[in-house]
Amino acid sequence: MGSAAPKISFGTPDQIEILAALEPFVREQTASHLERRKLWFPNDLSPADDQETQQDITELLRVRDAARGLPDAVRVALALNLLTEEGLPHFHRLIATHLGNESPWSDWNNLWTAEEDRHGCVLRDYVRDARVFNMGALERMQYRYIEAGFNPDWHQDPYRLLAYTSLQERATQYAHANTGRSCGRYEPKIQRILAHISGDESRHYAFYRAVFHEVLKQDTNVALNSLLKVMPALAMPGHNICDYEHMADVVRRADIYGPRHYQQIVEELLEFWNIGGLTGLSAEGAAAQEKLMKIPSRLQRMADYLDAKAAAERTFSFDFIYDRTITL
Ligand SMILES: [Fe+2]
Ligand SMILES: [Fe+2]
Repeated sequence: MGSAAPKISFGTPDQIEILAALEPFVREQTASHLERRKLWFPNDLSPADDQETQQDITELLRVRDAARGLPDAVRVALALNLLTEEGLPHFHRLIATHLGNESPWSDWNNLWTAEEDRHGCVLRDYVRDARVFNMGALERMQYRYIEAGFNPDWHQDPYRLLAYTSLQERATQYAHANTGRSCGRYEPKIQRILAHISGDESRHYAFYRAVFHEVLKQDTNVALNSLLKVMPALAMPGHNICDYEHMADVVRRADIYGPRHYQQIVEELLEFWNIGGLTGLSAEGAAAQEKLMKIPSRLQRMADYLDAKAAAERTFSFDFIYDRTITL
């Protein structure tokens, strides 16, 4: 690197050099993302204009009426998806601290943040319009989640951030799409909204997956070790939300998102990055490769165990849906 101060401060000097060398690739991926994306706005989906039509008002009342039919398990999924999206300040900060503040990496971070910000907005607009929750209780949860911070154990390793975001974007894509399908037969508009969000997540996934692939090509052994630190157990962004474990259990029992979905994501990425086929590795790299390739069968065993446990019904209650009992 030249004498200029590095724009990225996390990571080893070698990692910083590799991330700087990847800048043209990031610029190119950002440009191709911009070509493929469809920019939509919350107001396109849930209009809230001063000048509203009678049709807008009728639609609002229809949505509110139909949303009364949403089952409580689906409401829990909506709450979890919304809270996860509202954690955006944590993620913007993590990306900025790991990838720096003045480079194509930060241009991507700002663009990504602008796109993600619409997700929390449009979901909040919907649940407010449709009267889905005890809104005050939900707002208090959101406040506590933001206030608690989110500091995953990445040891200032920017490669872990890129591995994490690859997995996480795909996971949120699944969660939104499956929540949408579960809502659709009661109230189709929320399915449409969630389809817009999950479309964005799939394009974000394509970006991070491509970038981590490049990192793997340029710094294979180190990248394999970073991946191994993140992949076995993805710390979902919401895990700081109080009641997160119970909410995640509801969502898993409702077959909206759980370890089997995560297993699919892991398998897909191991294959896309050709982890099993990498050769010429260091001893440490080969050990990481071997452990990575065993993750799917471990996840499978965990999913089987949880399914066996779920055979016994369990009851849940959450203040954001007025402590009604959910039995699953
Ligand atoms: Fe999102
Ligand atoms: Fe995303």
